Formats: sequence, C-alpha cells, structure tokens
Amino acid sequence: MALLSVVTRPFLCRPSNLQKNWDSFLSLRAYGVHFSGQRLSIGSFQKRGRATRSSPVQFPRHATQLFTSQAPERVARSITQWHPPTDQDMWEQPVLIMGAGHIGRRVALVWASALRPVTVYDISKNALRSSTEYITDNLAKYCLEHGTHPGPVHFTSDLREATTAGKRHGLKLDFSAAHDTEPKSTRKKGPWMVIECLPENLSLKIAALAEIERLLPENCIIASNSSSLMTSEMAPHLQNPGHLINTHYYIPPRNVMVEVMSSSHTYEGIFPFLTREMKNMGLTPMVVPPGVQSQGFIFNRIWAACKRETLAVLQEGVGQPAEIDALFRDFFHAEKGPCERMDEVGLDVVANVEEHYIEQRSELARSGEKPLEWLKKTYVGRGDLGEKSGDGLYTWEEREALKAKHKREKFPEVEEALGA
Ligand SMILES: NC(=O)c1ccc[n+]([C@@H]2O[C@H](COP(=O)([O-])OP(=O)(O)OC[C@H]3O[C@@H](n4cnc5c(N)ncnc54)[C@H](O)[C@@H]3O)[C@@H](O)[C@H]2O)c1
Repeated sequence: MALLSVVTRPFLCRPSNLQKNWDSFLSLRAYGVHFSGQRLSIGSFQKRGRATRSSPVQFPRHATQLFTSQAPERVARSITQWHPPTDQDMWEQPVLIMGAGHIGRRVALVWASALRPVTVYDISKNALRSSTEYITDNLAKYCLEHGTHPGPVHFTSDLREATTAGKRHGLKLDFSAAHDTEPKSTRKKGPWMVIECLPENLSLKIAALAEIERLLPENCIIASNSSSLMTSEMAPHLQNPGHLINTHYYIPPRNVMVEVMSSSHTYEGIFPFLTREMKNMGLTPMVVPPGVQSQGFIFNRIWAACKRETLAVLQEGVGQPAEIDALFRDFFHAEKGPCERMDEVGLDVVANVEEHYIEQRSELARSGEKPLEWLKKTYVGRGDLGEKSGDGLYTWEEREALKAKHKREKFPEVEEALGA
C-alpha cells in the first residue's frame, strides 16, 4: 500500500483528472515506466527500439562560407572542437531543460519521447510540480501517437544535480538493483544538450548560461529557445560560443516546427547533427542558413508584426479581441486568432518579446511603443497574463467558451452522438 501511494503520487495532484491520469499511468506502466515522487524512470524497455533516422540535412555552400568567414576573434576563443555525441552517449546522458514553464515542459516531453533521458531543472518548486503533472498526463499519449516509448524524466531544482544527472538517470528508480550495475564511466556524465527555456530576459539568460557552462561537459550543446533574443547577444559572455545555438520551438507537441539559427559562432557540425536528431523526435527543423542572423528567425518576425498591429487595433479601440479573432478564423481558416494565441503564450512573454524588438530595431518604436505601454498597464501590470493566470485579452469564461467551440468544430460527430 505504501509503495502504491509513492508510485501514484504524481497522479493524485488533480483529483478531477484521476481517471485520465490513471489511464496514462497504465499506459506508461505498460511501457515499463515507473513513477516515484517527482521522478519518472524507465525499466526494462530502456534500449528496445528507437525512432527511424532520416537523412542528414545539406546546407547551401554559400551559407557555410558566410559562416566560417564570420567573427574570427570569437571563434578563436573556442577552446575545443565539437564532436557529435554517440548513440550510446545519448542513451546515457540526458537532455537538460532549464526552465519548466509553459514551453520548457513541452520541449521536455518531446525529447523524452524516444527512450531518451531528460532532466527538467527550475528554481521554482511549483513549476516543477506542474510540469510533472503535465508530462505525466501527456507523455504516454504522445509516444502512442508516434509509435515510440517514453524515456526517464528527472525533475530537480538543484543545478549541480541537473548538470551531473547522468548518474541519476538510467535505472536508479526502477525498484531494481540496476543502479548498482550502472558503469562507473557514465556516472559523472552530464547532459549532451541543454535547452534554455528561461524567462525572456537577456541578463537573466546570460547569467544562467554563464553559470551552467562551467558545470557542463565540454562537448555539450547549449541551445536557447528565446523568441526574440538571439544567441549572438549571449555568445560574448560564454567561454565557448561555438557550442551555442538558437533552437526556437513553437509550442510542441502541437506544433512540430523548430527554427534553428547559428549564434554566428556555432560549430558547423552541430547543424546536420541536431536537425537529424530533431527529426528523430518527430520535429521539423527549419534552418536559417548559418551566417545569416535574423531577430525573430523566420516566422516569429512575421508574427511579431501581426501581434504589434493587433495590439494597436485594441489599444485604439478599433476592434475587440473576439472580432479580430473571428476575422482571422474566417480569412485564414485558422483555428485561433492572434488574441487567443497571445493569451495562450502569456501576455508577459508577449510584452517582453515586443520590448526587445523595439530595443533592437529603433524603427519599430513609432508603431510599437504605445500598444506595448497599453498592454503592460492594462493587463501585465495587473497580473492578467492570459491562460496562465486566468484572465487576459479574453476573460477566463470567454476563453472556455472559445475552447468548447473549437472542440465542437473539431469533433462534430461526437456532439451529434451526444444529441447536442
Ligand atoms: N510561451 C511560448 O509559447 C514560447 C514559444 C517559443 C519560445 N518561447 C520562449 O521560451 C522562453 C520561456 O518562455 P515560457 O513561456 O516558457 O516562460 P515561463 O515564464 O512560462 O517559464 C520560465 C520558467 O523559468 C523558470 N526560471 C526563472 N529563472 C530561472 C533560473 N534562473 N533558473 C531556472 N529556472 C528559472 C521559471 O520558474 C519558469 O518556470 C522565453 O525565452 C520565450 O521567449 C516561449
């Protein structure tokens, strides 16, 4: 009985979800995954099967030339050459996610979906708790959809533990003696890749990355998921900027696109390796050619203009969120419009991103400053951040009604069967 309560603890967090969680629990147990407190660990399935590999990505020759001709003084600072981790390394060494917030937990889920170990690190115990719930609820489903098997996920608020999590992973919580048989050589191995999903604040990201770099294995890739801050802004603060790269995810697992962009110092070999591994995880990488730098990558830059003008329309009282979104749905056949999307992403994140765009590109100040001030004063300053806080551009009730509408439109036959 005592064992059962330990094993099922993550599922008891939300009683209303007990049935759903129990189903996930059974699915994960079927895969050999065991739960204990805030940790998920995998048992006998550890090395069976894996996703299929796709062919390496080819880059245009001019892109490589542009890349290698850049910033020689920075490249000279690099202390090592990068070599790709082996398959064995990636079974043993985790992907470390820094920041378990809205996007971090979703990125963690994707990287844990093909038997690979993942460590989730956050300074907030609440964020760790809710990301445990999220991953518990969704990992088995994602794996079933992709025909893969979940890997072990370890949650921690201890940075040192996060960077030496190789010794934590593998079989420690498998209720077997396997931990004792773990080879000594793998015990002190840290992550093979870190993906930072920290708040959109340049000095915070720089401080966190500089701190973690000291603790990481030399060969570790450091990827930033920032929407508007480019790693070229962070690179001068790292010992080895060759390991730094932008990988910008779009709310996975729903969106599979990831934009990949050089820090302007990134080792060339990281691109084909990483894009291949992303494809193995069911993601679709889009690469900005190494040597080209773009604030907001490809899509986010276009999306930023759309958000800016939407906020201006709201601030000037030209239209209401429901009207703007209805126009988008009608015109683009989109499921959601920009207001619903901004609420989903978080209005604080939207404000931080816009602020940075304006700082970097002074021509945007004229059109962007007033709507930004309005957003901060009317919503962010009052704690109305969208979905994560309840109210946002839509009230909680309005958003729930919209969600019900989307569901009805997606599954009309279910509504019919229920006699709705
Ligand atoms: N929200 C999105 O849809 C989205 C999409 C793509 C990219 N991004 C980018 O991802 C990043 C994170 O965005 P988010 O929406 O997940 O933010 P968030 O605020 O939901 O999550 C940030 C997390 O970082 C944690 N954190 C803060 N300081 C930390 C530290 N020093 N060490 C470890 N953890 C720390 C916080 O506790 C929080 O859980 C941002 O750079 C954002 O631009 C967000």
